[in-house]
Amino acid sequence: MDSQEWPEPVVPVQSLSESGLTEIPANYVKPPSERPHAVSFLDGPEQGLKIPVIDLGGLVGDSGERRATMQAMWDACKEWGFFQVVNHGVSLDLVEKMRKLWKEFFHLPMEEKKAYANSPKSYEGYGSRLGVAKDAILDWTDYFFFHLSPDSVKNLDKWPLRPETLRGTAEEYGRELVKLCGVLMKVLSIGLGLDEGYLQKVFGGDDIGACMRVCLYPKCPQPELTLGLSPHSDPGGLTVLLADERVRGLQVRKGDAWISVQPAPGAFIVNVGDQIQVISNSVYNSVEHRVIANSVEERLSLAFFYNPRADLPIGPAPELVTPHHPPLYPTIKFEEYRLYVRKLGLHGKSVVESLKAM
Ligand code: OGA
Ligand code: NI
Repeated sequence: MDSQEWPEPVVPVQSLSESGLTEIPANYVKPPSERPHAVSFLDGPEQGLKIPVIDLGGLVGDSGERRATMQAMWDACKEWGFFQVVNHGVSLDLVEKMRKLWKEFFHLPMEEKKAYANSPKSYEGYGSRLGVAKDAILDWTDYFFFHLSPDSVKNLDKWPLRPETLRGTAEEYGRELVKLCGVLMKVLSIGLGLDEGYLQKVFGGDDIGACMRVCLYPKCPQPELTLGLSPHSDPGGLTVLLADERVRGLQVRKGDAWISVQPAPGAFIVNVGDQIQVISNSVYNSVEHRVIANSVEERLSLAFFYNPRADLPIGPAPELVTPHHPPLYPTIKFEEYRLYVRKLGLHGKSVVESLKAM
């Protein structure tokens, strides 16, 4: 098999969904133990369990407010690996424009979208698969993946031409989210007892990597047999998710339970990725999450990934390593790590944990 190609022809989930089938194809049916109700299922909001919502306005308040806001974020990164941010400074108009344009993109004729069909070589473009294992059980999702930074890998030719304002809007959105992540990186550095610029510097300063995966979860006739997205932790640094405000689906692991996330109005959902778990030597946690399919409404979410520069070695910060806290992970380049993840596909937290054996 050519390792640069998919092992089987790719069928967009959206075309399956729109064909009106009443049973999902066998290659989307998860084994019973991986189906959504096979594990203890606590619905977060009803149970009162929720990922913390943090008002970033507190960072420009008086010193007490600032401290409390930072503390909330540190606690969230340790206990949940996830939090929501409101008052984050990104224009809500821009956010709504972004949502609307991508929804339009996914409703263009299939032939037009297929012109952007991606390959496992770079993943850029329109696709439906993660990982190249043959005969894999697939997830009920289509996506569009593209790079925003650094300029050397950003390729506007691979971004959709229509809707016409999409490229410009996505660039502006990317710049705003890079700024937001810069702020979060400072707070997270301070929480490790390090200089506020520490994480940014380790990530490559201004040369960080930024990319997006816009995910479409079409309606699914048998959501109890499959998943929108299998359990995984995010391989990169930070993820800023713009979740669908109307259609729930994201679940975060808390112990043995999966907690549903209800996005607050105007919020982003932020989570720590594997690279920050590694640098923090497991002070902060990159937590597993998954997406549930549903039969009633399609769901759109936009994941922005803030990553270290690809060629920089990432390992536990030497400042955090002591005789009592030996390094839990080896030091490897992010590009090597990402290759490894892409080959395996989504496998819970086994990827970062398997680093320990290296
Ligand atoms: C991801 C992800 C969640 C969602 O793209 O890594 O976890 O709600 N997405 O689409
Ligand atoms: Ni994720």
